[in-house]
Amino acid sequence: MNIVSIHGSPRKNGTSARIARAFTETAATYGAAVTDYSLNAMQYRGCQGCEGCHTRSDRCVLLDDVTPVLDRLHAADIVVFAAPIYFGDTCGQFKSFFDRLWSLIRTDAPDDGENSRLPPGKVAVLVLTHVDAAGAHTDVAERYVRNLEFCGFEVRPLVAGGLRLQPNGDIDGHLRAAAALARELVRAG
Ligand SMILES: Cc1cc2nc3c(=O)[nH]c(=O)nc-3n(C[C@H](O)[C@H](O)[C@H](O)COP(=O)(O)O)c2cc1C
Repeated sequence: MNIVSIHGSPRKNGTSARIARAFTETAATYGAAVTDYSLNAMQYRGCQGCEGCHTRSDRCVLLDDVTPVLDRLHAADIVVFAAPIYFGDTCGQFKSFFDRLWSLIRTDAPDDGENSRLPPGKVAVLVLTHVDAAGAHTDVAERYVRNLEFCGFEVRPLVAGGLRLQPNGDIDGHLRAAAALARELVRAG
């Protein structure tokens, strides 16, 4: 089983990265191969809206550090998308990456047809963390779930709210939930 884990937070050991790692490290103990990407350390641009991915190519035509990440999504079984909430959306590093998923969408699909260029059967684990009370950013989670479904994923959200601002706070319950989800998905796969 191939897992790609994409970390959006600039905090390498922040809450979203820790929850993502609880998932991938557990999955690895069951034999999954994991590739991590830390967006904050990468050089890339957000989507330019050029529509090159729908006119002259079936992939994003920008060539930068996100190019191999997008390529790997086609072969991944599970993709972890992890980000903190900043001002009521995902942090900018993650949003700029996320817009590049536009290249996964078939804009020529019939209304009742398959929207995604990805092969079916992939799971997205959506990790979102925030300090506002649990449930305060349900709208953000729902929006990202919908957009990931549009990109062809079955989505399993792991949303952690009511956290402390410090990255090293007690999030044991969320780490356990991530590990349990990894066991469920890897065993099922
Ligand atoms: C620029 C900025 C904006 C933030 N905006 C929000 C917000 O709108 N709502 C919220 O609940 N938390 C907000 N937070 C707090 C982070 O979402 C929270 O600390 C999160 O757990 C950080 O995740 P990380 O440790 O993975 O970086 C903000 C933090 C920063 C730095």
